[in-house]
Amino acid sequence: MSSMLTLVVLFSLIGCGHFITVTAPERYINVTKGNSAFLQCTFVSTQQQSPALMIQWSFVAKNANIQQVYYLQSGDSVIPQAYKARLTPPTSPATTKNASIVISNMQVSDAGAYTCEVHNLPDISGKTEASITVNVLEMPSVPFCAVHGDMESGHLVTLTCHSEQGSPAPTYTWTRLGQDNVMVPVPFGNIDPTKGSLYIRNISQFEFGLYKCTSNNVVGSASCTVKLEHELGAGTIAGAVIGALLGALLIILMIWYLTHSMKKQKYQATKTTEMQVMPKSSTKAYEDTPNRGSGHQDSVTSRGVPMATPSHVQADADREEAQA
Ligand SMILES: *[C@@H]1O[C@H](CO)[C@@H](O)[C@H](O)[C@H]1NC(C)=O
Ligand SMILES: *[C@@H]1O[C@H](CO)[C@@H](O)[C@H](O)[C@H]1NC(C)=O
Ligand SMILES: *[C@@H]1O[C@H](CO)[C@@H](O)[C@H](O)[C@H]1NC(C)=O
Repeated sequence: MSSMLTLVVLFSLIGCGHFITVTAPERYINVTKGNSAFLQCTFVSTQQQSPALMIQWSFVAKNANIQQVYYLQSGDSVIPQAYKARLTPPTSPATTKNASIVISNMQVSDAGAYTCEVHNLPDISGKTEASITVNVLEMPSVPFCAVHGDMESGHLVTLTCHSEQGSPAPTYTWTRLGQDNVMVPVPFGNIDPTKGSLYIRNISQFEFGLYKCTSNNVVGSASCTVKLEHELGAGTIAGAVIGALLGALLIILMIWYLTHSMKKQKYQATKTTEMQVMPKSSTKAYEDTPNRGSGHQDSVTSRGVPMATPSHVQADADREEAQA
């Protein structure tokens, strides 16, 4: 490049030609996604003001074809549809010798090389173009945290963390929620900072609890958390709940059975004493009825022998109803 400049200077001094020198003061720029890229380009020309000034901005992304961004020829400009809404063209470049443009709302797909080419007829030789490499930076998106593997001792357990977006590619760190809600580091040897994985080869050396992954790059960071717990999955919890309920039901049934059998014994005792007093039909009614309080009353009254019902049997039936 310096040899080229020397050549330009040399020819200018000799005065046998028309030369142009196009310059981009910043060869590399970083733009955060959504922000504007200010692409600066100026030129010096021996021809002071040419009506035939030609300015062309083109763009080439990594592994992609060249694309036109802006074109000016003899005062007429063309802005392709893709850039129409977000490109600010140069203002009177023929007089200012300033071909700078601004592209707003930069996306990751806009990263690449932008070339500014200027021909100022009859100045067509010299350094006619300059390039700017644009890097679009994007904050990491909120990562996804997950636990993979078997909690049993001796098995590999992996905590994974990944941000779908982020440029440059985020790096990941893991911490654990320790006592007093303080995040404590996890031994570094177990973390792959580029993949985001935390490998736990021996679960017995690890603490259970809440683990937090932070996805970082120059623009920002985002995080997610995941719980590492002893295989107390939903199934185990449901099993425990059902077990407790069954146990309670069993106890209730046992109590019910015990109180009932006691009542039955009492009732049998009463019945034998009644047998001596009551007529045969009345006794039959007692035997047919199920061993429930209401049953007792119904059958007894329908038989039209309420007088025969001993008061203590009636009281028993009431108590039983209250329990049920
Ligand atoms: C652009 O960002 C990268 C990090 O992605 C950094 O290494 C570089 O220095 C930055 N360049 C400028 C010109 O800010
Ligand atoms: C070129 O024009 C832009 C505005 O479009 C201005 O910000 C910049 O300073 C100018 N550059 C020079 C070298 O005059
Ligand atoms: C796991 O770690 C514990 C405690 O440090 C140790 O006793 C055990 O042998 C280790 N098991 C394996 C498979 O490395």
